Amino acid sequence: MTDRYCVLGNPVAHSRSPAIHAMFAAQCRQDLSYEALLAPLDGFADTLRCFVAGGGKGANVTVPFKEEAFRLCSSVSDRAAQAGAVNTLTFTGAEVRGDNTDGAGLVRDIESNLSFALAGRRILLLGAGGAARGVIAPLLAAHPADLFVANRTAARAAELVRLFGGTAVVDGGDFAKIAGRSFDLVVNATSASLAGQALPLPDGAFAEGALAYDMMYGKGETPFLALARSQGAARLADGLGMLVEQAAEAFFVWRGVHPASGPVLAALRAQLAA
Ligand code: ATR
Repeated sequence: MTDRYCVLGNPVAHSRSPAIHAMFAAQCRQDLSYEALLAPLDGFADTLRCFVAGGGKGANVTVPFKEEAFRLCSSVSDRAAQAGAVNTLTFTGAEVRGDNTDGAGLVRDIESNLSFALAGRRILLLGAGGAARGVIAPLLAAHPADLFVANRTAARAAELVRLFGGTAVVDGGDFAKIAGRSFDLVVNATSASLAGQALPLPDGAFAEGALAYDMMYGKGETPFLALARSQGAARLADGLGMLVEQAAEAFFVWRGVHPASGPVLAALRAQLAA
């Protein structure tokens, strides 16, 4: 029988995950189906229960349910516990196992696809919400020289520093605290562009050869990457690669097979440009 998977979100119609997993399944000759399921904002748990009762084997979780999904799990991986959120669920009997592949996807995109080694680098992470929290531990595991969390609301940055402090040189504060410092990698994990707002990034944040990485993606250059270009960032990357890599990691969690992400990323890039 065909194994069923889905992505649960709200909104979810725009999700590229069904297309990505269909390509992975064809490539790896896995007999599975993968659909997008819209969960009501107050009905995530019910939608999930129905999917499991209908024989679902696993699910991805996207905005705004990653933290709620974390709380519903009967067990979670270490990386999900550090993120405080899950994007990948596996159902085995009564067990709901939670994992988080977002950070691994980001690191893999940066190190493998973009050939940018993180060891010894100075990292600036913009944002202190769920998206930022989800990627800190995997970034630190790649042994950067230091990681600074800058956030509009300083208290939220301080909270992440408290959570992850002691594992490496982690510091944080508001955007003004970046002034006078420069970084090899600047990652945008804020949702500022969704509100059509520009980030108050001080001039000089990009060191020579720096990579600007936006966890968002879209048709054309994102507002953060346009800002980074104007401030002299040497390299620019959007989050499409991260999207494909977090999916590849989820596919591995479920099926025990690593799909080749390159052709899938190329296909998505072509679709986005069309
Ligand atoms: P997510 O799960 O996407 O991280 P979130 O938890 O709501 O969503 O966090 C959104 C992040 O984007 C926060 O870091 C937020 O900053 P605040 O903590 O100060 O709210 C940041 N953000 C949203 N709009 C922003 C803007 N216009 N300028 C700067 N940061 C912004």
